[in-house]
Amino acid sequence: MLLSITLAGLLFLALPSCQLSIPWPESNLRGDANPQPPRLLKFKPDGTFHISIFEDLHFGENAWDSWGPQQDINSVTVINNVLDTEPLTGLVVLNGDLITGENTFRENSTRYIDQMVAPMVERGLNWASTYGNHDSDYNISRFAILAREQRWRNARTTSMVPNKDAGVSNYFLPVYGTDCVSEISCTPELILWFFDSRGGFAYQQKDERTGQRVGQPDWVDASVVDWFRQTNAMLVNQAGRFIPSLAFVHIPTNASLALQYSGVDANRQPGINDDVPIAQQGQGWCPDGRNDGACSYGGQDVPFMHAITTTPGLMALFSGHDHGNTWCYKWDRLVPGMTIKGNGINLCFGQHSGYGGYGSWIRGARQVVVSQEKLKDWVVDTYIRLESGASVGAVTLNSTYGKDSYPATPNDRTRCSTCIYGRR
Ligand SMILES: *[C@@H]1O[C@H](CO)[C@@H](O)[C@H](O)[C@H]1NC(C)=O
Ligand SMILES: *[C@@H]1O[C@H](CO)[C@@H](O)[C@H](O)[C@H]1NC(C)=O
Ligand SMILES: *[C@@H]1O[C@H](CO)[C@@H](O)[C@H](O)[C@H]1NC(C)=O
Ligand SMILES: *[C@@H]1O[C@H](CO)[C@@H](O)[C@H](O)[C@H]1NC(C)=O
Repeated sequence: MLLSITLAGLLFLALPSCQLSIPWPESNLRGDANPQPPRLLKFKPDGTFHISIFEDLHFGENAWDSWGPQQDINSVTVINNVLDTEPLTGLVVLNGDLITGENTFRENSTRYIDQMVAPMVERGLNWASTYGNHDSDYNISRFAILAREQRWRNARTTSMVPNKDAGVSNYFLPVYGTDCVSEISCTPELILWFFDSRGGFAYQQKDERTGQRVGQPDWVDASVVDWFRQTNAMLVNQAGRFIPSLAFVHIPTNASLALQYSGVDANRQPGINDDVPIAQQGQGWCPDGRNDGACSYGGQDVPFMHAITTTPGLMALFSGHDHGNTWCYKWDRLVPGMTIKGNGINLCFGQHSGYGGYGSWIRGARQVVVSQEKLKDWVVDTYIRLESGASVGAVTLNSTYGKDSYPATPNDRTRCSTCIYGRR
């Protein structure tokens, strides 16, 4: 049944008919004066497609102190500076923890989206989000964030897995060749997968017994893994070949932890490696589904890890969540203790982009440069563009990544110069 649905049909179904393209009047954004984002994601005529990943922006902290709103102003500056330095960006990815939900007020908790997306709206850029554990809390829901994002035609964030317990930001976006005029007649050159690793707390719910907020599972749901496998099989079937792909998820899997334990080398996996051990999917849960603090890790990300290591063409998975880690690791072996063997997929962190959220590592955004030429060998290039304008950690995710030697990444710090934190 699923296999008979065409890709165009799937894409059509994925666009809610209630999607508003014009911002509400009270918005401070001049929607109609802004350049239009391209309708199709396409490679540029030179055969490249460039993605800028912002993660852990953590807008909306402490609205009652002056430093909270000041942090957000500085985070917008980070986005503007990076996008000014990276004018070839074809898609912006917001890879989770857009908003620090536990600090927000119910009546306006998603409004921070307006401020966050202004740099993209002003430039006529498309963006696509995954949601993180801080994007769900007593006063904020992922569904409401999606609705707020979709008021702009630039938003490509959507929700393709209807199971309401499976999270919201589960979807894919096709990227077409430069000559493509309609998705009905073109085969995608690249697929971008977005997965919701959930976490945080349920909206407007308190545990009747304890009065505490209700925790949500913090891994990619098994129903999403099923959807991914079926949808990918359909895409491969239609294309008649494996399609190169990249994936985005906020919380990394246990494989990143296991690889970190096996050693992160400053030259072979260049990047900051300060969050040791990393926090991973399934953290804080027991294998039997309890999350009462009794267990450190429940293994619920095994189906997802299995899926990403058995999907031909999936070159890399990009995560955030651990603000102090910025490396890429090629998972190409059975790491001791694990049951799942890596197939060579690259697991990458980005760079903490926001002035909200923990840590003072210099803010920046991971850049991914895909070229049709290198895709023939399933290879992509990536580096981190810092708010200072410098670039660090440039690597080629090819077959020898992990063996090649690169310059080590400096571990610089920045501070919010307009924030008065007092005793913090
Ligand atoms: C949300 O409401 C709070 C409390 O009234 C206010 O301090 C804050 O500035 C508001 N945030 C936004 C983004 O409007
Ligand atoms: C949620 O929002 C309400 C309404 O603005 C506010 O009174 C309350 O303090 C917030 N709750 C939490 C847990 O932040
Ligand atoms: C998770 O990683 C730890 C640390 O390397 C490892 O001991 C364990 O076997 C892994 N578990 C799974 C299910 O991947
Ligand atoms: C992978 O890329 C690096 C950096 O450009 C290069 O030195 C290395 O030779 C490449 N490996 C292969 C197999 O092409």
